[in-house]
Amino acid sequence: MTVAPPSTLAQLRCFNPACRSQFAITEVLYNCPKCGALIEAGYSPLSASAAELKRTFRERRLSNSPLDQSGVWRYREMFPFLSDYSHVVTLREGNTPLLDAPLAAEYGGLKRISFKHQGFNPTGSFKDNGMTCGVAQARALGMKRVACVSTGNTSASMAAYAAAAGLEALIFLPHGNISFGKLAQALEYGAKTLEVEANFDQILALIRVLADRLGIYLLNSVNPFRIEGQKSIMFEMLDQRDWQVPDWVVLPGGNLGNVSAFGKGLREANSAGLISRLPKLAVIQAEGSAPFYEFVHEGAREFRPVEKPETLATAIRIGDPVSWPKALHEIQSSNGVVEKVSEQEIADAKAIIGRCGIGCEPGSASTLAGIRKLTAAGVIDRDADVVAVLTGNVLKDPDYIYKYHRGKLEAPGGVKIQSTYGNRSIVVLNDADKIAKLLG
Ligand code: F0G
Repeated sequence: MTVAPPSTLAQLRCFNPACRSQFAITEVLYNCPKCGALIEAGYSPLSASAAELKRTFRERRLSNSPLDQSGVWRYREMFPFLSDYSHVVTLREGNTPLLDAPLAAEYGGLKRISFKHQGFNPTGSFKDNGMTCGVAQARALGMKRVACVSTGNTSASMAAYAAAAGLEALIFLPHGNISFGKLAQALEYGAKTLEVEANFDQILALIRVLADRLGIYLLNSVNPFRIEGQKSIMFEMLDQRDWQVPDWVVLPGGNLGNVSAFGKGLREANSAGLISRLPKLAVIQAEGSAPFYEFVHEGAREFRPVEKPETLATAIRIGDPVSWPKALHEIQSSNGVVEKVSEQEIADAKAIIGRCGIGCEPGSASTLAGIRKLTAAGVIDRDADVVAVLTGNVLKDPDYIYKYHRGKLEAPGGVKIQSTYGNRSIVVLNDADKIAKLLG
């Protein structure tokens, strides 16, 4: 059964409630030409019932069609912006597991936790969910070159999807501030890679100018189609739970695209009748890069960027997150919270996630660190049903891991991180007696 509504029912629209201007879905827009606010995709109400949609999503798991095998495009009725699906390039993104982790639950002060592990994606992060949509739209628009600035995962993902789609990929990275695993991916997938002597926020401003001037399609999360794809993380999570809504969804916050996507996806799932209430969203930032936390907690009128963001969790080292207005809306709509955590808290939570046999990159571990703080403060109940989203694979940043376990990890400013759950390798002689003695 196919229940996809025609894509002519899709538009781009201004996110600002006071403007709400609408534009054709085929326009190349990242901000509203009238008021400058962020742009989002909007759709006419779905004609299919919730029961029909759920049945279709489930049936597609048995299909061998590439579109149905994708854990993103399986939910395509929820983002019907394409009129021709031949533009889609899928690496079978999504399809990521929900994993129970008793040790992490205990550490986080919970009875139970499940991790939605986006590190199982083809390039090892949640960016693949959005990138398959952004690249499909680039092809639908006839674009030949795509670009992004990245703390590493967006670039790895964009490089892979652009290569698979036959597009030229231009990648801009903050020099010296991304992990080698991520840089290596961009090179391996053949992207033209520029390392700029500036931070993420400065480079984003730079490439927005270049994109306009050179007619390059921008695939950062200001691109509304990236957000559409990332909504599928929530649809898949709900589908895996037979549409039982958790109490909390916890995720790291950097540029704040992902929380914008999760909130939009959940609200749309609610409107479509797929669920009947919203989970609360909890966004966790690293202390040295926490402008959204400061904004929400100070109740400030103006959003104040952090000029020199710092954290060893380089994925979320962002001081001026572009999507903060959308993120704020989603935190408010879901009655959610924003928390910040220290470098030590991230490092220890990450080691605990590793001890569960799961593992993740540093930015992702901020979730468990944040949960531990939020349960201690009584914000999250010990009995709560919590899904934490691990955004990136453990192998993204092996350097961090090696240093932590050897007690050599230093936070910005030279503060030593304690190797609380350290696990050092031991160098031994090739001598059975000595090794037997060592092993007891
Ligand atoms: N976790 C990981 C592993 C990330 O790579 C990112 C962002 C985030 C969390 C934060 O998500 O920006 O949507 O709030 N990485 C971007 C990049 C910025 O360039 O790869 P966000």
